[in-house]
Amino acid sequence: MKEKFGSLPNGIEASLFTIQGGGLKAVISDYGATLVSLYVPDRAGNLADVVLGYDTVEGYAQGSVYLGATVGRSANRIAGSQFQLGGKTFRLNANEGDNNLHSGPDYYHNRLWTVEEVDERHIRLGLDSPDGDQGFPGNAHISVTFAIDAQTATLRVLFDGLCDQDTIFNMTNHSYFNLAGHDHPQRAMEQTLMIPAEAFCPADAASIPTGEVRQVAGTPMDFRAPKPIGQDLHVEYEPLKLQGGYDHNFCAGGAVLKDPVSGRTLTLTSNCPGIQFYSGNFLDAMGKGGLHYGKHSAVALEPQFYPDSIHHADWIQPVTRAGEAYHGEICYQFSV
Ligand code: GLA
Repeated sequence: MKEKFGSLPNGIEASLFTIQGGGLKAVISDYGATLVSLYVPDRAGNLADVVLGYDTVEGYAQGSVYLGATVGRSANRIAGSQFQLGGKTFRLNANEGDNNLHSGPDYYHNRLWTVEEVDERHIRLGLDSPDGDQGFPGNAHISVTFAIDAQTATLRVLFDGLCDQDTIFNMTNHSYFNLAGHDHPQRAMEQTLMIPAEAFCPADAASIPTGEVRQVAGTPMDFRAPKPIGQDLHVEYEPLKLQGGYDHNFCAGGAVLKDPVSGRTLTLTSNCPGIQFYSGNFLDAMGKGGLHYGKHSAVALEPQFYPDSIHHADWIQPVTRAGEAYHGEICYQFSV
């Protein structure tokens, strides 16, 4: 189903597309290849919209907290806003101090994507990103597919890229989840999280990983057994103080989030080496239904290569060679 989402002063006319199956309903915009809403049943079959979002396309154009955003070519931070590849230096735009965050400021999530395929179960959105776009090398064609698998109640997000030069591809979706419903901000930190990671990456005050890969055992970062997110959030522990809560790369590509009250459970899997778990420490946005989304009112779970991995040769590199296919995959499976 296609509906108008509105227009922007720059002439962009955005649309909304609804795909559904297996009890799930997802609303996606071609503006930014954005996940706008995701309706999921609870134990009694009652639907709630479990992702944060805005009511209008202007909200997405002006927003600064990446609600539901498709992020690329390079998710997360690149220190010093430059990197070397094939003996050349590539300069990006600094949009967080001296560093580059989410490839900005000319974000993929502020562009109109082309609808390449759509039916009631899936939509594929495409983007041409020319050589030098955001500072990255090579002419790239990128597609993002949102597809519902009704049998398993799963929303899959597939990222495919092809570039004529060696480049960085590190795409993710930046949805914030609150399984009680986006309109129950006070319940987000009561939800339990399990991340099967033995280690995480401590970061400096600018959220750039220091290079250390630290064991989670005996620290508040240990989510190997499910625990309420709020349980250790305020423990005196330097990495939590530096980031104002959880905002770290965990060395695992998945997580399980559960709301004990509604029973809604999200099992997230991906083909990524890491996941950025962000407890919404700086969230501040006027969201859907005129609701204010404040600090800790939802969590972002962003599967990706380790942040700034391009500067850490010993980490899995986010590089795709010229003419090779890049494929990223995130599966959000729901159960009660
Ligand atoms: C971005 C990142 C999050 C977090 C916030 C901090 O949204 O994706 O992980 O670092 O910035 O504001």
